[in-house]
Amino acid sequence: MAMIAAKCPRYEVTVVDVNAERIGAWQSDALPIYEPGLLDVVKQVRGRNLFFSTDVASAIDKAEIIFVSVNTPTKTFGEGAGKAPDLQYWEKTARTIVEASRGNKVVVEKSTLPVRTAHAMERILNSNRKGIRFEVLSNPEFLAEGTAMRDLELPDRVLIGSHQTPEGIAARDALVEIYANWVPREQIITSNVWSAELSKLASNAFLAQRISSINSISALCEKTAADVSEVSRAIGLDSRIGSRFLNASVGFGGSCFRKDILNLVYLCETCGLPEIARYWQGVIAINEHQKTRFVQTIVSAMFDTIADKRIALLGFAFKKDTGDTRDSPAIAIARKLLEEQALVVVSDPKALANARLDLAGAPAGRLLFEEDPLQAARGAHALAILTEWDVYRTLDFRAIFDAMEKPAFVFDGRNILDHKALYSIGFNVYPIGKPPLTHL
Ligand code: UDX
Repeated sequence: MAMIAAKCPRYEVTVVDVNAERIGAWQSDALPIYEPGLLDVVKQVRGRNLFFSTDVASAIDKAEIIFVSVNTPTKTFGEGAGKAPDLQYWEKTARTIVEASRGNKVVVEKSTLPVRTAHAMERILNSNRKGIRFEVLSNPEFLAEGTAMRDLELPDRVLIGSHQTPEGIAARDALVEIYANWVPREQIITSNVWSAELSKLASNAFLAQRISSINSISALCEKTAADVSEVSRAIGLDSRIGSRFLNASVGFGGSCFRKDILNLVYLCETCGLPEIARYWQGVIAINEHQKTRFVQTIVSAMFDTIADKRIALLGFAFKKDTGDTRDSPAIAIARKLLEEQALVVVSDPKALANARLDLAGAPAGRLLFEEDPLQAARGAHALAILTEWDVYRTLDFRAIFDAMEKPAFVFDGRNILDHKALYSIGFNVYPIGKPPLTHL
C-alpha cells in the first residue's frame, strides 16, 4: 500500500487494522516489520496520501477499492487441520465489509487463498440486503521478504483475476489503472479469478520444488564426490531451467512455501486427486528430511554426541535481510539439537526477539541468545550457519577459532563461507552437498 501511495499520488490509501498497537507502530519510525527500504517510502507518503487507522468501519465505507490482506494460517483444528487454510479472519473481514458499506465496492483478495475462496467470499458479500454489489478480484502478491520494495517497484508481473462479466472487467480495469502508474502494461496480466488464485499457489509450489530438488541432489553429493554448487551451476546454465532458486540449503522456510503447498495438497485431495497430492507433499517431505539430515551430520561429525556441547547457530531468520522466523528451518534444527541435549546459542542480527518466542519452553539453561557472533562462538564446539546474512561472510574467523573449543567445527548450512580458508585456519568444515574438509 505504501508503494501504491508513492506511485499514485492521486489515490488516497488508508491502512486499517483492529490492532491499535500495530497501527501505532506504523505511525512511528519503529515499523512493526523490518524490510529494507520500507521506512523511506512510508515516510515519503505518510500523512500525504497514506494513512493508518483503527477506524475500520469508516475506512471501509469511504473506500471504492478494498484490499484484504488478513492472515490465513494453516488450520490447527477440525476438518483439514494441518493442511487447509484457516479462513475465519477472511470471513470475519467479509462480514465487516458488508456491515460497514453503504455503496458498491471492489474487493481485492491479496491474502493467498485456496482456489474458489473468492467465490465463497462473494456469496457472503453479495448476500447483503442493502442492494449493494461487491465485485471480487484476485490480485495475488508475489513479493519476497527482504527484497519486497524492489519486487514491488519492478515486478516480473502483476496478476489480476476477475469475472469475465462487464462488471468484473470494469473492476479489473480500475485495478489495472492503479498498477499502470508504474508497471508496464504488458507485465500486468489478467485471467479468470480461479486461475489467479491457483497461479499463486502453483508459483510458490514450483519455487519450493526447485529448492527441494537441489536439496535432494545435495544429499546424493554428500554420499559421492560430487559438489552441489558445481552441479547447480551446470543445471542452471540451461536457459530452459535458469539459475535462480537452485542454492542447496538447510531447507526453505518462510510464511508461504509450506503453507501454500499444504493448501495445494489439500485442494488436490478434496478434488479426488490423491496421486497429485502425494507428488506435492513430496516437496515438503524432502524439506523436512534436509533439516533432519543437517542435524544428523552435526551429531555424527562430532563423535556421535553433542550432549553438553555448546553449538552456536549463526542466523535464525528464514532468510537474510528479514527478522521473520516463521517456519524458519532454524526452529526445527534448534529443537533437534536441544533434544540431543546440546547447549544452543542463537545469534541473529534481526530475529532474536522472534527466536525467543519460537523456542519458548526450551529446557532451562540449555538455550542462550547472543547477538554478537564472536560472543556466541566463545567456548563453542561448533558453529552452524543457518541464515545467509552477508555479515557472516566477513567475520574474523581466526579470532572465532581462537575463542572456540577444539576440535572446532563449522556446519555451513547455506554454503556462504570460504571453506578452504576456514579449513586452513584449523576448522573442520562441513558444507551442504560437498565433501567435508577435516583435520581428523
Ligand atoms: C516466497 C516467494 O518467493 C514469493 O514470490 C511469494 O510471494 C512469497 O513466498 P519468501 O518466502 O519471502 O517469498 O522468500 P524466498 O526468497 O522465496 O525464500 C524462501 C525460502 O527458500 C527461504 O528460507 C530461503 O532461504 C530458501 N531458499 C531460497 C533456498 O533454500 N534456496 C534457494 O535457492 C532460494
